[in-house]
Order: sequence, then structure tokens, then C-alpha cells
Amino acid sequence: MASTTAEQQMVHVNATDARKFVEHVLVGNGVPRENAVIVSRCLVEADLRGVDTHGINRIPSYMARIREGVLDPKASPTLRQVTPVVAQVDGRNGFGFLAAHMGMAAAIRMAQESGIGMVSVKHSNHFGMSAWIVQQAVDAGMMSLVFTNSSPALPVWGGKSKLMGVSPIACGAPAGKGRPFIVDMAPSVAARGKIYKALRRGEKIPTDWALDKDGKQTDDAAKALEGVMLPMGGPKGSALAIMMDVFSGVLSGSAFAGHVTNPYDASKPADVGHFLVAIKPDLFMPTDEFKDRMDYLYSRVTGSERMAGVDRVYFPGETELLRKEERLERGIPLVHAEVEALNKEAQRVGAARIATASPSVKSRL
Ligand SMILES: NC(=O)c1ccc[n+]([C@@H]2O[C@H](COP(=O)([O-])OP(=O)(O)OC[C@H]3O[C@@H](n4cnc5c(N)ncnc54)[C@H](O)[C@@H]3O)[C@@H](O)[C@H]2O)c1
Repeated sequence: MASTTAEQQMVHVNATDARKFVEHVLVGNGVPRENAVIVSRCLVEADLRGVDTHGINRIPSYMARIREGVLDPKASPTLRQVTPVVAQVDGRNGFGFLAAHMGMAAAIRMAQESGIGMVSVKHSNHFGMSAWIVQQAVDAGMMSLVFTNSSPALPVWGGKSKLMGVSPIACGAPAGKGRPFIVDMAPSVAARGKIYKALRRGEKIPTDWALDKDGKQTDDAAKALEGVMLPMGGPKGSALAIMMDVFSGVLSGSAFAGHVTNPYDASKPADVGHFLVAIKPDLFMPTDEFKDRMDYLYSRVTGSERMAGVDRVYFPGETELLRKEERLERGIPLVHAEVEALNKEAQRVGAARIATASPSVKSRL
């Protein structure tokens, strides 16, 4: 992950400035301030962790949905307690970030009281990077499962056209002295957001990510978006995508089986479903013992004998945390076209332009 010429041509945005900018644009589009604070924190967290595909660059597409009246900027989610350990959140077609945030907060509360909390979320929208919800649980000392469904992008194994979403499967566990365990992965070879990012930045994509509309391999992002994503591990990736739809779509009462709307399609509501679980890690042993065991696992994994050409073995979620440390220091890199797209949104609502600077420190990753 060496610093490239392209990266040096980028401008950098400080995380606090990015949050303020997003907050102002959201408020300018009718989002209540307390909700804008949550959404901006989640988006900037994705940029900080290096998941630029699901960060502040999503603002133009989200605002287009508000303008077209298919995402309700004023909606706040509601919660219904079903049993002492089960709750249901209705996202009421507001931001997915708000519904998922409320859902995980409820799951954590139930887990603190009863050991486990499970929340089904319906009528929601895209919630960006799943890892921020896993981190919400880790910050409360909880293990978690975070599932969502999403719009069709992937054929099921043996199929030809898009049916399932590249819906990320995510989970996590806190540690003691080591870094927490955070898995957050789309069941495709690459997340579709990486193709949108390549399109925005005029970059080629690897030929094993997607097929064009004629079923041929392509390195062209625009052609890939007209075609289908490829599942990771063949039928296994396809099965995981269906699993996300069973738990998030079928169970919740939201859209499923290929009927979730793409976040870039502002013609109708998305009706996304999520499935969230929090688990208290001291159910079967004292907390300290659990943490020691996590630390032992971390040291065994990261201390593995390395294959040729590998400098360091990382724990899942670790590269993102290292990236965050770096970006907190040197800022979030954006290309000029992305900055302009963001400033266009600011201009529409009379908000200030995003504050940018040239990078002063080279990337260490
Ligand atoms: N909300 C949605 O509908 C939606 C849809 C698709 C993707 N996404 C998001 O897109 C993001 C990107 O997904 P992705 O599948 O491209 O992720 P990825 O391939 O970058 O990473 C997948 C997992 O592998 C781990 N990993 C990566 N490199 C590693 C290394 N060298 N050593 C050890 N572990 C390593 C990461 O920590 C992560 O947990 C995710 O945050 C996901 O939530 C969201």
C-alpha cells in the first residue's frame, strides 16, 4: 500500500472538518441536527478506516435520493420491544445509519441485561460500512453480528443475471491489550463500491471482479456496472449473499429476493433490512479470561510464520485501524472531482465549501 503519484495529487481533508461539512449539508437538506451528527460520524469513520467507497463521497447519491423524495430526511427510526432479548426497529425510510445505530444500541442494552440482544430492522436504507456498527458494539465491550441485505448486483451460483446484493457480512469481538477482531466483507470478489470509486477516479479494475453485460471479463468500471459482480469462492459467496437476505430481508419484513433498490437509483425507496446481534462476552467465563484468550488468539494469528513476500500478518480489522491512525494525523485523501461533487452539494444548500489541504506527510501503509 505504498503512496502513489495519484495519491500525492490528492487533497486531504481533516476528519473534524469532514464531519462538520457533512453535518451542514445534511441539515441543509432537512435532516435534524442530532441525526446529521450520527450520519456524518458514520460516513467519516469509513473514510478514516480507508473504506473510501462508503464514506463522504456517498453524499451526492444520498442527497439525490432526498431531492427525489425516496429517502425521508426528517424520519427518525422507532423501536418496538418484542421479548426481553428481541426488538424490532422500523427505519421509516430514513437514513440506514440511524436505524442501525438505534438497533445496535438496543441490542447492547439487552445484552448488558440478559447476555444477548437481537434486533431486526425493516424499511431502512443503505448504512454504508458495516464495521462502524461492529465498532459500536466493541466500544461497549460486546461481541456482535451485523448483517444487511442490499440491491441486486450478483448472480446466484449458476445464474446469469443480478439477483442478490453484495451484502456485507460483519462481526466482531473486543480484546484485552491486542486489537479487536472486526470482520467486514462483501460476499463478492470486491465490493461494488470499489467499482464506483474506480469510475469516479478514472481507474481500471482487476478483471476478476465483474463481468460486462455480455458476460465477458472487463477492466472497465462503467461496463462492469452494466454487468454483474462475481461472488467470492463461487457457490460459497453466492450462499453467503442469500444468507444475508434470509436474515435481513425475509425475517424483517423488508424487501428481499432481488427487490431492494440500488442506493444510486433515486426512483423509489430502497426498503433495506438489517439483522443485528450483541453478545456479552463474559457469559461462560470472567471478562478478563475472555480478553486474555482473545489476546492469545491475536498473538498466534499475527505471529504466524509468514509466506514468501509477506512482511506482516494482520488480524482482521487491523489494517483499517492502522489506516485510521494515519488518516487522523494526515487527513482523508480525495481526488479533485470528488471535492467538486461535494462542494456542488454544499452550494445547493448554501453551506460552506469543504476545507482541504495538500498532504504534508507521506502514507506509511
Ligand atoms: N451497506 C452495503 O450494502 C455494502 C455493500 C457492500 C460492501 N459494503 C462495505 O464495503 C466495505 C468493503 O468490503 P470488502 O469486501 O471489499 O472488504 P475488504 O476486502 O477490503 O476486507 C474484507 C475483510 O478482510 C480483512 N482484511 C483485508 N485485508 C487483510 C489482511 N491483509 N490481513 C487480514 N485481514 C484483512 C478486512 O479487515 C475485512 O474485515 C465493507 O466495509 C462493507 O461493509 C457495504
